[in-house]
Amino acid sequence: MAEKAWAGVFSEATDRRVEKFTESISFDRRLYAHDVRGSIAHAQMLAKVGLITPEECQQIVQTLEDIRQEIEHDRFPFDISLEDVHMHIERALIDRLGDVGRKLHTARSRNDQVSTDLRMWCRDSIDQLDRRLADLQRAFVDRAQSDRDVIMPGYTHLRRAQPVLAAHYWLAYCEKFQRDRERLADCRRRVNVLPLGTAALAGTSLPIDRELVREALGFDDCMANSLDASSDRDFVVEFTFAMTQIALHLSGWAEEWILWSTTEFGFLQLPQAFCTGSSIMPQKINPDVLELIRGKTARVVGDLQTLLVLLKGLPLAYNRDLQEDKPPVFDAFDTVDASLELAAPLVAGAQLDRQAIAARLDRGHLDATALMEHLIRRGMPQRTAHGVVGRLVAEALQRNVSLADLTLDEMRAIEPTLDESVYDVLGPEKAIAALTSHASSAPQEVDRQIRRWQARLNQPVAAPA
Ligand code: ARG
Repeated sequence: MAEKAWAGVFSEATDRRVEKFTESISFDRRLYAHDVRGSIAHAQMLAKVGLITPEECQQIVQTLEDIRQEIEHDRFPFDISLEDVHMHIERALIDRLGDVGRKLHTARSRNDQVSTDLRMWCRDSIDQLDRRLADLQRAFVDRAQSDRDVIMPGYTHLRRAQPVLAAHYWLAYCEKFQRDRERLADCRRRVNVLPLGTAALAGTSLPIDRELVREALGFDDCMANSLDASSDRDFVVEFTFAMTQIALHLSGWAEEWILWSTTEFGFLQLPQAFCTGSSIMPQKINPDVLELIRGKTARVVGDLQTLLVLLKGLPLAYNRDLQEDKPPVFDAFDTVDASLELAAPLVAGAQLDRQAIAARLDRGHLDATALMEHLIRRGMPQRTAHGVVGRLVAEALQRNVSLADLTLDEMRAIEPTLDESVYDVLGPEKAIAALTSHASSAPQEVDRQIRRWQARLNQPVAAPA
């Protein structure tokens, strides 16, 4: 059992059960590369300000690099008696360098260290999710281009409402994932502020230079209040919320595609490589990936909830409770990252069943609103036109036909002012062609939006402000 770095004041050894209860190495070892990077920047700063010599710094940096390599290649021993990733790396350094290794933790506490490591990890994770979201958006935009001529029923209340272009659906998801990217970029600005150099809670009497460390680690700013620096986990909550919102968007999309790929809807065929079968019913091709994307959203929501409750009512500054921030944020990231990794090829690989969609497009009187607007254009008050079209739909329902199948005489029996021009807006193609407003499913508007997205996504992702 390794001797504790903090053993000085203690006269009793730590109970083994306490070691098991308090350890975090089982989950925070994934911060090792960030911890090494932070320590190297810290050591170089200590050398610049004269708290260690350049030779000592050189040894520390070289040994930290060795340790990183060993962890990376699974050649590094972990032991819960050393608590966490910070202690493991520091102990290995001391084992190899003796007193030189004992100097690394000068003007530093694990409190500012762990927050620095986690911020660097969040930063990398945000960048990774941003790339994944851009891939998914590209898959949707490519579909929008290739499905551009497909008209589908648009739904409200999951009832057929108005015709829309399939491309309009795909671009709707691009918008949602764009907001997710913006949320991540915004969150990244608050992640990217450096706590290191605030020490345990009050700062230090040693002549450190935080600006050097900030620069070396690529942070935008230094945290301004030492009490705030080590206690702040707002950034973890924000990041996890941003991931929760991504998961919610993915879950809604997954639900929609599960429905659309049923025999009952028959709109969509999922790529078989992204489906699984049944152990007893030989005919089944199940949408398990989509179901799990939907299902795993529950975990992410739970992770956010865990963090919110964790942080409720903590006094300043660092409290050990904060160690519990890592499992939920890691889990949320792993879950959302894996879901996004599968979502993009699923979007690219699915096939719209154009014939099945077209064959049933005249059901549900999708052109009723277009007809109402036709009457409004001819001077009828909206409420009156709504009533007239309602009666025309009732007549069509009675005869079991579409609105376009009603004869002019049958229509005139309900609304005498109607003439042949009514047929200019009836049928889903004409109803959609009649649309003109900004952001609508009008073909020319959707084309404009496709071009806008293509231009936007072909550009490199803009660095956050
Ligand atoms: N493993 C700890 C954490 O994740 C590191 C900080 C421990 N600080 C302390 N004073 N015990 O929060």
